Amino acid sequence: MIIGVPREIKPGEQRVALTPAGVRALVEATHRVIVERGAGAGSSIRDEEYTREGATAASVDEVWAQAELILKVKEPIAEEYPRMRPGQILFTYLHLAAVPELARALQTADGIAIAYETVQRPDGSLPLLAPMSEVAGRLAVQEGAFYLAKAHGGRGILLAGVPGVPPGNVAVLGGGTVGVNAARIALGLGADVSILDINLDRLRAVDDLFHGRVITLMSNSFNIDQVLRRADLLVGAVLVAGARAPVLVTKEMVATMKEGSVIVDVAVDQGGSIETIRPTTLLDPIYVVSGVVHYGVANMPALVPRTSTFALTNATLPYALELAGRGVQAAVRRNPALARGVNVWRGRIVHPAVAHALGEKATALEAVLD
Ligand SMILES: NC(=O)c1ccc[n+]([C@@H]2O[C@H](COP(=O)([O-])OP(=O)(O)OC[C@H]3O[C@@H](n4cnc5c(N)ncnc54)[C@H](O)[C@@H]3O)[C@@H](O)[C@H]2O)c1
Repeated sequence: MIIGVPREIKPGEQRVALTPAGVRALVEATHRVIVERGAGAGSSIRDEEYTREGATAASVDEVWAQAELILKVKEPIAEEYPRMRPGQILFTYLHLAAVPELARALQTADGIAIAYETVQRPDGSLPLLAPMSEVAGRLAVQEGAFYLAKAHGGRGILLAGVPGVPPGNVAVLGGGTVGVNAARIALGLGADVSILDINLDRLRAVDDLFHGRVITLMSNSFNIDQVLRRADLLVGAVLVAGARAPVLVTKEMVATMKEGSVIVDVAVDQGGSIETIRPTTLLDPIYVVSGVVHYGVANMPALVPRTSTFALTNATLPYALELAGRGVQAAVRRNPALARGVNVWRGRIVHPAVAHALGEKATALEAVLD
């Protein structure tokens, strides 16, 4: 199969959908790979690193015109719509419910669109979202530690403490992928760490994972109230699948936090769990409410595009290899996780939740497969 990797052109996007290791794996499997010149630049990957592994460096026109399978990171933007071709497979983050005009463009283009975010294993897990949650969770504490510095607006706290001075206190709301990764870094820095979750089995797993070195607490209003008063850094990491994040910390509760403490609400992309949080950007990441620094960056992995590129492609490559190796029909038949990823098949919306969000009736995937 011919696989094309365009440069990402959505403003601010620096990741790329394939690494040189991915090129090697695809070429070893006898596929042809075409990478747009400069595609890896944002992630500090040079064109020669791709071509050395057997890729062809090409123009954007050549990539879209020749590729049977397009690997991307972000959804196509308007200037890319006319480039999509009938029968072409597009494998990328799509978030179609948020961009109805893209859904129409994909239908008109008559291709096959497979969304990273809806690739779902039978146990309900989302393998192509998890790597970005790992990045965001780890970054949440690194960023929080930065903003706790006095010169950056914070209380002037070193999370590690020093001999004779206690470490800082980090409270993490939600013990899923983001929460556990945040706790790991906070613990590594030597902070005093608590995690709150409503799922007791999650708390058991966290207790096991960290050998009791993280305090686990049932998430309820009473316990949240208590931890907030002590926290130097509060990390929001709650997710209720398919719903807006529940507001667990009201603005009155924020007002009880210490002056100069920091809130990093990673769940801001789902509305956030802190009443006073709003989405911010990497260029202007923080603001202050009731003396508390608020960090609401909705695309945190973009701060570390190189790490994010490698983390994302580690997870996507096995699916790309399967699509290229078997062909899309056989691949989605064999792999139910990949089948869940199919959003649009030659003009038809086939993912039920996506169709629902667009106010359309979904066509069953089985009905469109030969
Ligand atoms: N800002 C960013 O750049 C960025 C990047 C990646 C992920 N995210 C977001 O981070 C959030 C968390 O993602 P995740 O992968 O860790 O999800 P996850 O499903 O792995 O974990 C969510 C956890 O929240 C817990 N939870 C639900 N309700 C709760 C409550 N009332 N109190 C405490 N805990 C509760 C769940 O039991 C679960 O353990 C999501 O909204 C995701 O979209 C944001």
